[in-house]
Order: sequence, then structure tokens, then C-alpha cells
Amino acid sequence: MTLEGRRIIVTGASSGLGAGTVRLLALHGAWVLAAARRLDRLERLAAELSWVTGRIVPFRADVTVDADTRAMVAAAIDAFGGIDVLVNNAGSEVQAPIDSLAEDDFMGMLRANVLSVFLCTRAALPELRRNRGVVVNLGSTVASRPPRGRFGYVASKGAVEAMTRALALDLGRDGVRVNVIRPGIIPSELRGLSEEEERARFATGISFGKQALSAVGDASDVAEAIAWLCGDGGRWVTGAVIDVDGGYTLGAADIL
Ligand SMILES: NC(=O)c1ccc[n+]([C@@H]2O[C@H](COP(=O)([O-])OP(=O)(O)OC[C@H]3O[C@@H](n4cnc5c(N)ncnc54)[C@H](OP(=O)(O)O)[C@@H]3O)[C@@H](O)[C@H]2O)c1
Repeated sequence: MTLEGRRIIVTGASSGLGAGTVRLLALHGAWVLAAARRLDRLERLAAELSWVTGRIVPFRADVTVDADTRAMVAAAIDAFGGIDVLVNNAGSEVQAPIDSLAEDDFMGMLRANVLSVFLCTRAALPELRRNRGVVVNLGSTVASRPPRGRFGYVASKGAVEAMTRALALDLGRDGVRVNVIRPGIIPSELRGLSEEEERARFATGISFGKQALSAVGDASDVAEAIAWLCGDGGRWVTGAVIDVDGGYTLGAADIL
């Protein structure tokens, strides 16, 4: 697969899946605007990957602020001459059951996970239409297999799926494809557990012990699927919900 010169914005690029996605896309030759609030992290990522064939432009943006999302799009056009792909990856979670979930935390998740998709997509839309572009949203397997005690996050990721379908239909005649990738459990700051801790939980059957594959996934596993959607290989795929989860969703139905 080559993504040479493909002009891509990745939000939430300062850690976890976003940083892994920037790395893989740039290795495939893409030109990537890496956006998040922690600019120092983005600059470090770009410096570490200065040797790759693609390009990485760090950009500070809060994706819940309209002016920031517009500035992010303008910066990508300025740097690359246009935008072909938007990866709406930024997200956050406060884990709590409904009775102890503060309204501010609930709204915070809706802002980071839902409002961000609206603002970033709306800002990039003229470019995506012009270039018959692609939107990749990051959902979660929890939308259809909700674990206990994660009400707000589950609600927000359900909304991401619904928005993906609505947008795929609204934008399909313009040649714009919109899909959602649903990662299973990937060690990251969002989950607050290291890979070793995730492995220990896996071994004891807590958390994702019912996942079909025994391997713990990492950011590159999700990035591979995103990269495929960004390229021509995914040209007839839109409105799709794609699980990249090591069989976690499958195993969640295994009650024995
Ligand atoms: N890890 C998993 O197991 C898993 C599973 C399913 C789905 N996902 C989804 O995958 C995506 C990435 O998660 P992750 O695990 O990689 O988490 P992470 O390591 O915590 O990364 C989240 C990223 O989002 C950015 N972000 C959060 N709020 C933002 C805002 N207001 N403006 C701009 N950037 C913001 C953060 O950057 P700054 O703080 O620098 O802004 C960070 O780069 C999320 O949408 C998450 O819901 C993850």
C-alpha cells in the first residue's frame, strides 16, 4: 500500500492510537498534520520520525473549539495544498456509573468524543468534497457491548456510530466516504494501564479475558485498518463499522 502524498489530518495525535496512526501513515509516505493540545508531544513525535518518507506537521488544537478546528484545517491546506483524509481520533473517558457521573464529566465526554467529530468534519468538508475525501472516526466496541459502569463513554461512542452512518449517506453522492473503526482494548493513557498491566488482567480473565485472540493489541494494529481506509483499497467502503478488536466483541457473547 502506498499513501504517498496523501494529505491527512489526525486528531488526538499526541499519544496512543493517534500517535501510532501518524507513525504508520507517515511510514507509508502520507503527509500528516498531527493535532492535539499538547504541542510538545507532537513536536517530539515529528522529530523522532524525521527520517520517514512522509511528512509530519505538528499543530496545537483543541478539537472542541470551533476556531481551533478551522485553524487546524487552514494549517493543513497551507502546509499541503489541500486535505484528502480526516481521522477523528481525539477522545477522552471518565469511567463512572450514571449515579456517580458528574454532569461536567458527561458533557466533557460528549464534547471530546462527539462535538469534536462535528466541528472537525464540518471545518474540513469543503476540502473533503473537493478531493472526494475520506473521514475515519474512532468508535469503540463498547457501543454494542457495553461494559458495566461506563455509561457516558458508551453513549458518546454510540453517537459516533450514528453520526458515521448519517454522514456516509449525506456525503456519499459527493464521493466522500465515512467509516468508523472500533478498536477493542489497546493499552493507552485513556485506559490508564500499561501493556504489562493489561497482560496481567488478561491472564486473570478480568477485562478482556474473553477476547478470541490471546495477543494484546497495540496502536499499530488499529493504525493498519485506518491506513487501509485512507487509501484506494477502501474505495467502495462507506458507512461501515469495522471492529479491530482481536475478537473481543465476539468473545463478549461467550458466557461459558
Ligand atoms: N485504547 C483503547 O482501548 C480504545 C478502545 C476503543 C476506542 N478508543 C478510542 O481511540 C481514540 C484514541 O484513544 P487512545 O486510547 O489513544 O487514548 P489517549 O492515549 O488518551 O489519546 C487521546 C488523544 O486525544 C487527544 N484529545 C483529547 N481531548 C482533546 C481535545 N479536546 N482536543 C484535542 N485533542 C484531544 C489527546 O491529546 P491532548 O491531551 O494532547 O489534547 C490524546 O492525543 C479515542 O477516540 C478512544 O475513545 C480507544
